[in-house]
Amino acid sequence: MSRVIAIANQKGGVGKTTTAINLAASLATIERRTLLVDADPQGNATSGVGVAKATVDRSLYDALMDERSAGEIRLRELGLPCLDLLPATQDLVGAEVELVDRPGRETRLRDAIAPIRDEYDYVIIDCPPSLGLLTLNVLAAADGVLIPIQCEYYALEGISQLLNTVRLVQQNFNPALAVDGVLLTMYDSRLNLCRQVAQDAKEYFGDKMFRAVIPRNVRLAEAPSFGRPILLYDIQSVGARSYLAVAQELVRRSDGTLPPEGEAEAPPVEAALPEVPSSNGAAPPNAPSPPNDAVPDAAAPEEAPR
Ligand SMILES: Nc1ncnc2c1ncn2[C@@H]1O[C@H](COP(=O)(O)OP(=O)(O)OP(=O)(O)O)[C@@H](O)[C@H]1O
Ligand SMILES: [Mg+2]
Repeated sequence: MSRVIAIANQKGGVGKTTTAINLAASLATIERRTLLVDADPQGNATSGVGVAKATVDRSLYDALMDERSAGEIRLRELGLPCLDLLPATQDLVGAEVELVDRPGRETRLRDAIAPIRDEYDYVIIDCPPSLGLLTLNVLAAADGVLIPIQCEYYALEGISQLLNTVRLVQQNFNPALAVDGVLLTMYDSRLNLCRQVAQDAKEYFGDKMFRAVIPRNVRLAEAPSFGRPILLYDIQSVGARSYLAVAQELVRRSDGTLPPEGEAEAPPVEAALPEVPSSNGAAPPNAPSPPNDAVPDAAAPEEAPR
C-alpha cells in the first residue's frame, strides 16, 4: 500500500521543497519506491532533482487538464533507482485558473495519480506557498500532511489556517486525511529563538512532532544549484544525515514501530547506504561538480528538543 504525503505550509520559504526533494531521495535511498510530485508552478522540486524545466514538454499541468496521463509525464530514476518524478513548469499557474470551472476541480490530482500510485511505497508532493486550488488538490489526493516549520519569529502563525483547510478537505473530499507530522527546519541549537519555537511547537503538536530536526546547513541550500538531492551532493553533510533520519522516522511511524519517546532508538531502517556516484545522469549538463569537503555549518541536535 502506498502512502501519499503532502508537504504543506502556505508560508513561503519554510523548507517545503527542500523537504520534499530530500525526504523523497532519502526514502529512495533506503529502497522505498518513491514518486516525487511537483505541484508548485515555481518548479523548484523539478529543477532540484536535476531536470531542467526548459526541457520538460509534458508536465503536471497536462495531467491535471486530462491531456496526458501521469504515466506519460513521469520521469524515471532521477539519479536513484527508486526515485521518479512528476515534473512541473510555469504552466501550472494556468491550472489554478483553468480548473475553476471544471467538474471535480478539487480532485483532479487524486484522479491523475490513481493509476500509478500503487507502484510506489511513498508519493511525496511538494505544495506551493498558498492555500489555493493546487494545494486543495494535493490535500484531497493525500493520505497525510507533513508540515515543515521554520524556526523563526511567527513560525506558528498561519498554522491554524492550514489546519482549518485540512479540516475542510477532510469534511468535503478526503475524510481519511491525517496530519502525519510536523518537522522543524533550519534549526540552530545555538539560538534561544529556535529552542523557543521548538518548545511551542511541541506543546501545540505533541507527538506529531518529528523527533529528527533539520538544522540550518549550507550544503542543503547549495545542492539545488547542482540539481541534486543532498544525498547525491554531500552524503557526509549534517543535512544529508538529518533527512535520512526523517525518512527512517517516517517509515517507523507508518509501520507503527517507532519506540516511545525516551526509549532507546531502534537501529536504522537500513544500515547500508548505496554507493553514491560522483556524477549522476540527473545533473544538468553544465552543473559544476560538487565539492568533497564536508563542512557542516551547524551541529545537528541529537534529538528534537522538548
Ligand atoms: N535546512 C536548511 N538549511 C539552509 N538552507 C535551507 C534549509 N532548508 C531550506 N533552505 C533554503 O531556504 C530557502 C527556502 O527553502 P525552500 O525552497 O525549501 O522553501 P519552500 O517552503 O519550498 O519555499 P516556497 O514557499 O517558495 O515554495 C531555499 O533557498 C533553500 O535552499
Ligand atoms: Mg517550494
